[in-house]
Amino acid sequence: MTHLRPFVLGIETSCDETAVAIVAADGHLFAHHVLSQIDEHAAFGGVVPEIAARSHITHLDKLIQSALDDAEMDVRDLDAIAATMGPGLIGGLMVGVITAKAIAKAANIPFIAVNHLEGHALTVRLSHNVPFPFLLLLVSGGHCQLLEVAGVGDYTRLGSTIDDAVGEAFDKTAKLLGLPYPGGPAVEQAALKGDALRFKLPRPLLQNDTCDFSFSGLKTAVRRVAEKCVAERGGLYRDDVNDICAAFQLAIGDCLVNRVGKAMKKFDNKHPDASSPTLVVAGGVAANIALKSRLNEVAHEGGYTMIAPALDLCTDNGAMIAWAGLERLRAGALDDSDMIPRPRWPLDETAKPLVGSGRKGSKV
Ligand code: KG4
Ligand code: ZN
Repeated sequence: MTHLRPFVLGIETSCDETAVAIVAADGHLFAHHVLSQIDEHAAFGGVVPEIAARSHITHLDKLIQSALDDAEMDVRDLDAIAATMGPGLIGGLMVGVITAKAIAKAANIPFIAVNHLEGHALTVRLSHNVPFPFLLLLVSGGHCQLLEVAGVGDYTRLGSTIDDAVGEAFDKTAKLLGLPYPGGPAVEQAALKGDALRFKLPRPLLQNDTCDFSFSGLKTAVRRVAEKCVAERGGLYRDDVNDICAAFQLAIGDCLVNRVGKAMKKFDNKHPDASSPTLVVAGGVAANIALKSRLNEVAHEGGYTMIAPALDLCTDNGAMIAWAGLERLRAGALDDSDMIPRPRWPLDETAKPLVGSGRKGSKV
């Protein structure tokens, strides 16, 4: 079967996944490889930037070759190469971008710089027919944002975290409770067996009338509850951990549902004609079945259809970068070889940095 051009190879190295994919304009995935570094970072309870960069160097070339082999292609069969230019860990970004630029130059095809968040934002269109504009909830280890996606390169940030990303809150909570990294799946499993009402945890920022998030107070509250258990029972028992996880996940769910509700109202006011608007949920936290089902409910109540792309497209991967590169190419992007990696690169450049976002702009 012939597939629709352009064919774009995408490289993702912004965090702890080395990933390469080749996509066609009809959404066909010729190749889709994701190499996770979780085992290399697990002992540290989080991603170590230097280890991540070195691991990308070790694996990227071979991964690109096996993607080309899968697709039975030579680099000259490609129409463009895209790589994540930011935001992310600078060492990893440099590995991906330099490799992509070199291959693009040798093959005489354009190099397209992709914002990692744009990759998450547009990927749903690779697998589903979702027209612009749509509402996006991006919830991963590095990001926690609500965005209005009006077109390629046209994003308005409706809300963002002022401290931790939601996946980061799961990871830190897991670490505190002695659960393995990454924390999300471990906390979700423990929560299934727990009593969510035994402990009362805060819902930060809910009294404030924005779409912003805050999770660091929740993390501190989890620490206090855990310390209290230890003081009262002489240790943290399995049922304590399960109950804390259940209470934590309930609190996170309440925050997400509340903020999404507010964002839908903002979106509706701006797009009163959108007859059946879509809420897209992307990022690793979208793997959480309990949270997804609560989000589905609130979307439904607001007259929205909720779509979460397949998990392997929701978590960091090369297809999302290839696809965003392809959409940018179709929208007229030429060649970004003169651009250099940007560890901080907000999708909505007009959005003001929030508290705690750092001197050079928002991290997440
Ligand atoms: O999108 P992703 O693979 O990488 C980035 O951070 O960009 O997301 C990873 C994050 C981690 O923080 C992980 O703990 C979280 O997603 N996660 C989950 C679940 N599975 C992964 N969080 C909650 N529940 C889950 N089932
Ligand atoms: Zn990501």
